[in-house]
Amino acid sequence: MKALILAGGFGTRLRPISCTRPKTLFPIVNKPLLERILQRLEKTGIKEAILAVNGLTEFYLKKYTIEKYGLDIKYSIDPPKKPLGTGGPIKKAERLIGKSGPFLVLNGDIFTDLEYKEIIEFHKKKQAIATIALYEVDDPSRYGVAEILDNNRIKQFIEKPKKDEAPTKLINAGIYVLDPKIFNYIPKDKPTSMEREIFPKLIKEKNLFGLTMQGLWMDIGKPAGYLQANNKLLKTYHKKNKIRMQNSEIKTPVAIDSDVKIGLGTVIGPYVAIGKNTIIANNVKINHSVILPDVTIKEGATIKGAIIGEGAVIGKNVKVNKDCVIGDYVEIEDNILICEGRAVCPGTKITENIINSI
Ligand code: GTP
Repeated sequence: MKALILAGGFGTRLRPISCTRPKTLFPIVNKPLLERILQRLEKTGIKEAILAVNGLTEFYLKKYTIEKYGLDIKYSIDPPKKPLGTGGPIKKAERLIGKSGPFLVLNGDIFTDLEYKEIIEFHKKKQAIATIALYEVDDPSRYGVAEILDNNRIKQFIEKPKKDEAPTKLINAGIYVLDPKIFNYIPKDKPTSMEREIFPKLIKEKNLFGLTMQGLWMDIGKPAGYLQANNKLLKTYHKKNKIRMQNSEIKTPVAIDSDVKIGLGTVIGPYVAIGKNTIIANNVKINHSVILPDVTIKEGATIKGAIIGEGAVIGKNVKVNKDCVIGDYVEIEDNILICEGRAVCPGTKITENIINSI
């Protein structure tokens, strides 16, 4: 079986970090999400993955040289300046996928341990045109919500309903198994939404099935979801993570990648992932945060609940507060305060306190 990974969206909700990196390359505890997905595909016995991307995503993915876990990787590229949505890229990849049997489709921004094998087996038994993995969440209003009948057939599917109008709490988990017949449903070279255009058609024909799955499932599409995915994985590291540092304090769970330097009196953790080659000076405090690679954090800085982009330089005594997202290669001068929930665009030099968003 082949897998198609949808990874050509713009990740607008994860800006500004997604301005310089596709969502699927966001590290989850120091390893890009895409590598974690490929690793799970390999464990499922899948040998070939097709990455449905746009030209810019392809550029970043090739530049990064991802670990492929032995999989044969192919690219299917949206036409220039014409994003094909969540359905169009499936049709675009028709030739690469072929018609020999069902295939798996994954959203490239989902961090999960749901068993792909389970939905594949289920799909084969039902001989459906499409089976989607469903996952129960507290607030389904941000997602596509499904109502299923006793035989697992989907009765209705509503994309992003109002909170009180969602028929269930079962959402589209962004994992599908599709029969090649699906290619007859999707127009060629036209932006198409699986959720809004194709699923309703399949429901009318009684051809859409849903399998409720249990396990870990997180959508990294927003900063809070991204931090949460890191925290969930860090939690599982707790016992393995024996870090000894002289004259600095590590409050587990913490993950520190290679060639990271940590100064005296610095307190790191809990819930911190630090990317490689990062330099952290003396008396710094970092908790509940993700620090991407090659960051410099100067003496006395405090980072709480934030995402710090690759290559950023955080000046002396700077305070970066909860839910802040600092873009790649941002430079923050000494003694600056960045208030809660602020975003700073990549490459910006910050010379004044940020009280309002820029
Ligand atoms: P937002 O702009 O923040 O909504 O993000 P998004 O559009 O990247 O993500 P969304 O959750 O809407 O998309 C689900 C998955 O489909 C993600 O893995 C996206 O990368 C992917 N995707 C969305 N639009 C396209 C597209 O036009 N082309 C391709 N190839 N993939 C897409």
